[in-house]
Amino acid sequence: MVSIRPANFDDLIGMQACNLVNLPENYQMKYYMYHILSWPQLLFVAEAENKKIVGYVLAKIDEDSEEIRGHITSLAVLRTYRKMGLATKLMRASMAQMAETFNAEFVSLHVRVSNRAALTLYSQTLGFDTKDVEKSYYADKEDAYNMQKKLTPPVREKPPPPAAPAAPKVDPSIRDRPGSLAAKIQEAFAKQTEETTEKEEKEEVEESERRKDDVENLDSNKGGVDTFAEDNPDAKKKKNNKKKKK
Ligand SMILES: CC(C)(COP(=O)(O)OP(=O)(O)OC[C@H]1O[C@@H](n2cnc3c(N)ncnc32)[C@H](O)[C@@H]1OP(=O)(O)O)[C@@H](O)C(=O)NCCC(=O)NCCS
Repeated sequence: MVSIRPANFDDLIGMQACNLVNLPENYQMKYYMYHILSWPQLLFVAEAENKKIVGYVLAKIDEDSEEIRGHITSLAVLRTYRKMGLATKLMRASMAQMAETFNAEFVSLHVRVSNRAALTLYSQTLGFDTKDVEKSYYADKEDAYNMQKKLTPPVREKPPPPAAPAAPKVDPSIRDRPGSLAAKIQEAFAKQTEETTEKEEKEEVEESERRKDDVENLDSNKGGVDTFAEDNPDAKKKKNNKKKKK
């Protein structure tokens, strides 16, 4: 079985070997390194069960374009592994990452006008359109079709609202343990409540005694004598008499 997976640094030699036997456009190792260091998400390999690299796609983000545009630099599948859908899978994996990771709107590529297999793959299977013809694009002067495809924006799921933080659970055996911080706080609170109650009771007794005195004073002032009794000689006399009687 052949698996399609993202390429890593160790795959670059296998990718270069696959390129050399399938295409006349070959690159130095530093060009593969430039791709994997710049856009690691866009490189994929087809790996056989014996770990041999039997296909690859080398891709990048076009740095000279106005919009965000992915570009297929190179694609190849070893002859004995062709017509199994590997190139289709490699291309789809890379294009998905162009849209997902880089928000690319388009993907483009060049293909020899004589490359019937690749042309059919791009136009019929993958839905690329021919944008224009670039004359003498290749080193041997063959023309290239400049093809492009609009990418489907990724469907991003709305993240759920953040959950409210749960109240910390306190183990009752820890909470009620004597000497624990919680127990000390509880003790202090109980003591304070007790002191406050005593103080309030004391203040209440004092207040009620004060009221009793006031009532008595009022009684002694009965008969229309007001609080200005000191200024009223009759009232003063009455008050003094009462005091003597007491
Ligand atoms: C072009 C190439 C990558 C296709 O790889 P592949 O794994 O065989 O392609 P797939 O199996 O995914 O084929 C998908 C479709 O492409 C088309 N296709 C593939 N090979 C074809 C061929 N020899 N003739 C006509 N159409 C072909 C078919 O429509 C095919 O669908 P189908 O199998 O349902 O008929 C491969 O032939 C190759 O490596 N060629 C040499 C390197 C090259 O030309 N690279 C492209 C440079 S631009």
